[in-house]
Amino acid sequence: MEELSSRSFQPCYSKIIAHLERTVTPARFQHSLRVADMLRRATEESYSIDQDSAIVAGLLHDVAKDLSCKKMLGLIKRFNGYAFWDLPPSCRGHEMYLHGPAGAVIARRSLRVCDHSILRAITTHTGCYPDMGPLARMLHIADFAEPGRDVPERDEVERLLFLKDLDSAELIIARWIVRDFPSMDIPLHPFYGQKILNLSRSPTV
Ligand SMILES: [Fe+2]
Ligand SMILES: [Fe+2]
Repeated sequence: MEELSSRSFQPCYSKIIAHLERTVTPARFQHSLRVADMLRRATEESYSIDQDSAIVAGLLHDVAKDLSCKKMLGLIKRFNGYAFWDLPPSCRGHEMYLHGPAGAVIARRSLRVCDHSILRAITTHTGCYPDMGPLARMLHIADFAEPGRDVPERDEVERLLFLKDLDSAELIIARWIVRDFPSMDIPLHPFYGQKILNLSRSPTV
């Protein structure tokens, strides 16, 4: 697997990268670089999505993940409350569902990111929201398919991302989540099951 560094990215991302280096673990920092790089390559080849927005969303999607749940909840309740109340009660105490909405708060307040599509993508990148836009869907898929992810479905999901077949990629990820989250002690958001039903009915899948 190719090792990325901050020098793999344009200097305009240096403030974001410096913030990540200070606030997330080295493993998460590398993961964030790989997700951003995958989005950079995907938007270069086949998508009509702003490449800078995709890179910023990829870099920042897990910016809150090393905070405590208490800190995440504090940020969300103060500044991104709708995302919290959208969650079913069973998911409101787990970092899996809190780090996206909390990350969007950090992106907006600490790093002055104000593009709504980027903030929405960071908020919803765990994939359990019905109103994800194209950037959010791509981020959700790249998060799963980055080269460091050690799951058998990864290669196929990456292939589908570059084919622009987001529905098929999301269906594979949703099935993986429904199968594997319970054994990882992560509460299952009911939308994942609904998503499998919706996407299985889709004529493109
Ligand atoms: Fe995440
Ligand atoms: Fe991630």
